[in-house]
Amino acid sequence: MTPEALKALLATAETDHAAHCAAPLGLDLTRGKPAADQLSFANGLDGILQGQFLDRDGSDTRNYGGPLGIPELRDLGAAVLEVPAAQVLAGGNSSLTLMYQFVDAALRFGFGAQAPWGDGAKMLCPVPGYDRHFAIGEHLGLELVPVPMTDSGPCMDAIEAAVAADPSIKALWVVPKYSNPTGASVSEAVTTRLAALPTIAGPGFQVLWDNAYAVHDLTDTPTPLPSLWSAAEAAGTLDHMALFASTSKMSWAGGGVAFFAAGPNTFKAFNHHLSFQLIGPDKVNQLRHARLFPDLPQLRAHMAQHRALLKPKFDAVLSALDAGLGNTGLARWTVPEGGYFISVDVVPGTAKTVVALAAEAGVKLTPAGATHPYGKDPDDQTLRLAPSFPPLADVEAAMAVFVNCVRLAGARQRLKERPE
Ligand SMILES: Cc1ncc(COP(=O)(O)O)c(C=O)c1O
Repeated sequence: MTPEALKALLATAETDHAAHCAAPLGLDLTRGKPAADQLSFANGLDGILQGQFLDRDGSDTRNYGGPLGIPELRDLGAAVLEVPAAQVLAGGNSSLTLMYQFVDAALRFGFGAQAPWGDGAKMLCPVPGYDRHFAIGEHLGLELVPVPMTDSGPCMDAIEAAVAADPSIKALWVVPKYSNPTGASVSEAVTTRLAALPTIAGPGFQVLWDNAYAVHDLTDTPTPLPSLWSAAEAAGTLDHMALFASTSKMSWAGGGVAFFAAGPNTFKAFNHHLSFQLIGPDKVNQLRHARLFPDLPQLRAHMAQHRALLKPKFDAVLSALDAGLGNTGLARWTVPEGGYFISVDVVPGTAKTVVALAAEAGVKLTPAGATHPYGKDPDDQTLRLAPSFPPLADVEAAMAVFVNCVRLAGARQRLKERPE
């Protein structure tokens, strides 16, 4: 844009911002939570058992035991993660807990023949990425090393170079489908290279494959995810792949079932570590989920209901971005085919300002930097939008404010850099 055009844009943005601040909205686009009407699709869970508590093997789900989960839910986890059911643990309500427990166990105990990671271990964090992944590593004392994301998953050139050069790099986070927050999914080529990483990395290296959005498509024709399991089997690295998923955004975010899968030795060793922490998961809740989601086709049919609510909200965000920022050169954004987030890169140096301006107008955004290790985005440019929770009209209202804040901060910055 010419300086004249930028000045005109800035003048309008300032007037609009003053108007927005005069009537602040009180809206929140921060966390990727399902909306209440999405949660209601699973209300059938309530009372679904009608006094029948036996699983398919005849075990009483109300009692202790069954540390790997009930067979019905291990089958469901296997279908979601596309792995053999014998290698699946169906656990409690949070996959994040399993990820924490897995990293903790890797650090302190190791898995079978794999020695503990010990002090000085490092973790590769694709950026932009999921703040809670990074927080697990930081809390457990790992050094977080950023690596770039691409449109087809984490940048494998950077990752291969890093692990080959530094054996203290012990793990890599991957959200393979509709990543948080860019929405990118891994390609076949990236999956093959991920599966081969343990052959060039230091001992005990683990790919942490968090397939949180495995069935969370926004289209009717989703691209199938390449099989990490088959690729790792072929590469002989199954014991270095840790796969996670959960029903948090299928049924109830606070009352679902989490899944874990790994190669035989790691699976056995991790379950041994878990055996000191619990006698068995909530199998009654697992049985309720088995009744609600008897198989993958019925789970997919359930997810189509979510799609019907989520798609218009994503469309509203994307149309607002197109209308307010298209052709301005002041932002670029992702157009996800699933998941819960849209990532927006604003003019470098303005992400924090955009968040502050939006707050003045009553719109809460995820803090700038949250998508990077230690909360620090060196370019101060990436913002994560989460449109699932507010009603559609609120998403539209919040987006009008957001877009204007990006225009305002971006035009000011550009004019500062290039006044004439
Ligand atoms: C990539 C990713 N993994 C995991 C989670 C949380 O999973 P859970 O509810 O199973 O702990 C989220 C929630 O936003 C997420 O985006």
